[in-house]
Amino acid sequence: MAIIHLPVMLREAVILLEPRPGGIYVDATIGLGGHAEEMLKHIGNGKLIGIDRDEESLRMAGKRLLDDRVVLKKGNFSEIGRMVDEAGVSMVDGVLFDIGTSMLHLRTADRGFSFLSQEPLDMRMDRDQELTAGDIVNKYPEKDIEKILREYGEERLSRRIAKAIVRYRIKKRIITCAELADIICSVYKGRGKIHPATRTFQALRIAVNDELNELRKGLETSSGILKSGGRICVISYHSLEDRIVKNFMKDKREKGVFNIITKKPLTPSFEDVRQNPSARSAKMRGAEKI
Ligand SMILES: C[S@@+](CC[C@H](N)C(=O)[O-])C[C@H]1O[C@@H](n2cnc3c(N)ncnc32)[C@H](O)[C@@H]1O
Repeated sequence: MAIIHLPVMLREAVILLEPRPGGIYVDATIGLGGHAEEMLKHIGNGKLIGIDRDEESLRMAGKRLLDDRVVLKKGNFSEIGRMVDEAGVSMVDGVLFDIGTSMLHLRTADRGFSFLSQEPLDMRMDRDQELTAGDIVNKYPEKDIEKILREYGEERLSRRIAKAIVRYRIKKRIITCAELADIICSVYKGRGKIHPATRTFQALRIAVNDELNELRKGLETSSGILKSGGRICVISYHSLEDRIVKNFMKDKREKGVFNIITKKPLTPSFEDVRQNPSARSAKMRGAEKI
């Protein structure tokens, strides 16, 4: 079955970035190419550099877009400067970050992102990377696991879950996603509004992919390659990411580098969320280089 990833806040992203004919734009998280496809409609004979660290997503985006104006690059967006340089460009008119995972990750069981999956705990966006979520739960000291769950998952039972993980792995290596989800459920008696494993899985994903550091570096580097009047648009999906984006833009405004376009973050419309429930936590912020 074909995996479909509906681009989140597509209309708002285009309004905010204002892609113009002849402009050079970077989609730093091209994923399955939804936002990129829309941007291409506005840039005439311009250029779009699409980045993703997931080889499979890049391949699918390439097939979807089939366009001479597109240059695709595999790598971390923290290295956006180098990748843009390799594409023969020095300064760009706009950068889009739509961070996090795509449906390709969440719906493909063997990528090991979903707590419903019976496949090994993996969660690597870049499959060439060595560290997996399985390594963290089976090898890291209890204190480090607790810290990851507390800081990246804001998990209130981080200590008890870390203890349960370590107690379990003395008897048997934790292999599948569902096995870890069962360990977490044994700590949480009863269920709240969300599945008890949600926060732990978010935390492990952030740790495996070093997501928060990637975001800090990616934002900083992209501010250096934006032309004056160029725009940056960031869509994030949880408060830890949004805080980084907000503070970054505020800091750049204070230093006279950016004007902030979105005084408050934009959020998806009721209709967007109805069509695409995974968009419900999205927050979009934008700024323009002075
Ligand atoms: C939410 S999806 C983007 C979906 C895309 N906007 C679309 O319309 O199809 C996020 C993508 O960013 C990629 N990604 C996340 N963090 C990254 C990073 N630090 N460097 C490069 N790619 C990253 C993921 O592999 C994923 O494909």
